[in-house]
Amino acid sequence: MAGRCHVILIGPQGSGKGTQAARSAPRLGLRHVATGDLFRHLMQRDDELAREVRWYYDRGALVPDEVVLRVLLQRLDELEEDADYRGALLDGYPRTRAQAEALDAVLRERNDCIAAVIHLAVPRPVLIERLGGRLICPQCGATYHRQFSPPAVDLRCDRCGTSLTQRSDDTPEAIARRLETYEQQTAPLLDYYRARGLLIEIDGARPIDAVTEALVEALQPLLADRP
Ligand code: AP5
Ligand code: MG
Repeated sequence: MAGRCHVILIGPQGSGKGTQAARSAPRLGLRHVATGDLFRHLMQRDDELAREVRWYYDRGALVPDEVVLRVLLQRLDELEEDADYRGALLDGYPRTRAQAEALDAVLRERNDCIAAVIHLAVPRPVLIERLGGRLICPQCGATYHRQFSPPAVDLRCDRCGTSLTQRSDDTPEAIARRLETYEQQTAPLLDYYRARGLLIEIDGARPIDAVTEALVEALQPLLADRP
């Protein structure tokens, strides 16, 4: 029996993966699965795993592959309990060649497929500007920007009213390290998926609405004839 079809979103820090996944997943009948969000949720706990993840996260370093895979699989298993679940929009996974191969193995086992891999391309100066102004809701994870996507009421989440904060990894040092890690470890995945004919390039430097429309337009036909 054919399984589910997933979409992978790849782009540097600040390219808008979280912003675009939250807006487009419901329109595409996909569930937004962000490893960064799973870690931010997990770090609210006070146990050894939370402390281990925080050590990497706050430095802007990658969390070890086996920990990421364990947390991701737990989320995918939870989603499979949901009768309406037809596939995930993966934001922030995979980020290394080892993670891409682990994902291939997991999908093979489940008889699932990758419908497409989106590359959100954004020049570095724009990324720095976006990350410097980013605000997030610590309660529901919604993302804002002081200038480009401000909340309706000053510094409060539109969805749940919680006071917005800056992410603990949006420091200049952690931003620099994340961008460097992206270039070294994640950008090579673009060739990995391009060679399989799965890569779609989207210009992520445009306004938020324009990027969402381009993404939905590119993906809708590919997902239309899902089982
Ligand atoms: P994660 O949370 O995934 O962070 P990231 O990859 O660093 O990416 P960001 O969330 O910073 O950027 P984004 O592309 O989502 O941009 P956003 O939409 O917020 O990961 C965090 C950490 O978790 C990692 O460093 C690592 O430690 C760990 N981790 C996660 N996954 C892992 C993995 N697979 N392996 C190992 N470790 C892992 O947008 C940014 C800002 O710009 C916002 O303010 C937004 O409002 C604004 N904006 C967005 N789009 C536009 C636009 N078009 N125009 C104007 N403003 C815009
Ligand atoms: Mg994000």
